[in-house]
Amino acid sequence: MDFKEFTFKQIDSDTEIKSFDCGDTDLNDFLFSDAINYYKSMMALTYILEDRSANKTVAYYSLLNDKIVFDPDSKKLWNKLNRRVPNSKRRKDYPAVKIGRLAVSKDYAGMEIGKSILLQVKHMFATMRRSACRFITVDAYAAAVPFYEKCGFMYLSEKDKDAPTRSMYFDLINFLD
Ligand SMILES: CC(C)(COP(=O)(O)OP(=O)(O)OC[C@H]1O[C@@H](n2cnc3c(N)ncnc32)[C@H](O)[C@@H]1OP(=O)(O)O)[C@@H](O)C(=O)NCCC(=O)NCCS
Repeated sequence: MDFKEFTFKQIDSDTEIKSFDCGDTDLNDFLFSDAINYYKSMMALTYILEDRSANKTVAYYSLLNDKIVFDPDSKKLWNKLNRRVPNSKRRKDYPAVKIGRLAVSKDYAGMEIGKSILLQVKHMFATMRRSACRFITVDAYAAAVPFYEKCGFMYLSEKDKDAPTRSMYFDLINFLD
């Protein structure tokens, strides 16, 4: 694999999407059918990693603004989340950026590309700081929950323990330690 042939870009109205299959139909369809419409309607920005030599899409993810809101039924988890926020700055909601979608092609799975993408997002928001945002959120597919856990994400609620997706977050303050 020649990583020098990898290029990274943000989707816009004219982007031609190269072939991609992550094994999940909804995530594949989003890339080919919806990502550009989301860009045009300013509802989510999609970033893609391409392999020039293979003429393929390696991975993509989309981002949108979000907020984490206090849920009285998940007090214990909220206290954990709040612990590193100074008392005077504690609120019932916090600014966040949401990973709307993240998918790595089956051809490139298990090569730490997903992990590197999360590192890039952490860097983007923890150090570049175009606007303040404390957390990254994701509604993780049940099968991908262990992946997010390995990348430092925590649970927002116990209510979705057996649901098809779980609400998870990463505290960007941890990235600066
Ligand atoms: C989940 C996904 C993004 C992981 O991407 P990837 O590039 O293959 O993962 P990485 O190689 O970066 O894995 C990083 C670590 O997570 C682990 N991991 C990755 N996917 C995992 C899974 N499904 N279950 C358990 N562990 C997993 C890896 O073993 C690795 O562990 P290590 O650091 O101890 O070696 C990718 O498999 C994918 O796109 N899946 C289909 C779509 C999907 O589920 N997207 C998430 C939507 S919320």
